[in-house]
Amino acid sequence: MEDPAPRHGGSVFAGLVGASQVLGLVSVVLTGVWMGHFRGGFAWDGSAQEFNLHPLCMVLGLVFLQGDAILVYRVFRNEARKSVKLLHGTIHLLALIISIVGIVAVFDFHRKAQIPDVYSLHSWCGIATLVLFCLQWVMGLLFFLFPVASAWLRATYLPVHVFCGLMLLVMAIGTSLLGITENLLFRIMPTYSQFAPEGVLANTLGILLVLFGVLLCHLITREEYRSPPNPEEESLSVHFKTLTEGGSPASP
Ligand code: HEM
Repeated sequence: MEDPAPRHGGSVFAGLVGASQVLGLVSVVLTGVWMGHFRGGFAWDGSAQEFNLHPLCMVLGLVFLQGDAILVYRVFRNEARKSVKLLHGTIHLLALIISIVGIVAVFDFHRKAQIPDVYSLHSWCGIATLVLFCLQWVMGLLFFLFPVASAWLRATYLPVHVFCGLMLLVMAIGTSLLGITENLLFRIMPTYSQFAPEGVLANTLGILLVLFGVLLCHLITREEYRSPPNPEEESLSVHFKTLTEGGSPASP
């Protein structure tokens, strides 16, 4: 089937994807500069430098890579569906591993510094995001990569999976904003209101994360950027229609 996107703004699509990558990469770099330059760098020894790995891993894993894992369905919409699914699952796995390193870093830092765990709104939202992210990954694996479910179940679950994917990206960005604010209040409370350079940098990071999320939501939800229907999905939806409406697969 012919792809409608190149006729109706293919260059706009390419521009928006490029902009999303710039926003995502600059966010990761800014997080690195914040923790590396202003907060003393990185280490794995239970110190504040180990904590510094937390924001970096979370922004890289749960925001940037999670966003890109979703985006592959739009960028490679004309490639073989199986390869795109594999890429989607692999980037998500990478995001999951990096996020787990980031979470272990903050728990380890809290344990060594004898700081209580999971008391803040940020940590509650963070735990919810991570648990749902793991669940979404396992469900995706079972339903789509190694399909163990029936065609009817897969057709029913697909829109739920798509909705939850976008919701998780929004949750990850929201959680990051809470974490950024909390960290600034812990570290530079007396100078934050005087536009301290560290505060301005961290605020800028927050704005870039929001813009990344807005752009991703736009690219994912616009009808003209969707993949052309593939035979597997067509047969799923026909099968679903047959089951729910009692029609014959051939009926319109
Ligand atoms: C999706 C992204 C993120 C998730 C899922 C997440 C998750 C978490 C979790 C579960 C904790 C609790 C650890 C414990 O209780 O021992 C935590 C702590 C913390 N995080 Fe994040 N985080 C994210 C991003 C960030 C970012 C970008 C920052 C920015 C600096 C940040 C700053 C903090 C701080 C300061 C703490 C320690 C205080 C507290 O427990 O609330 N987080 N995070």
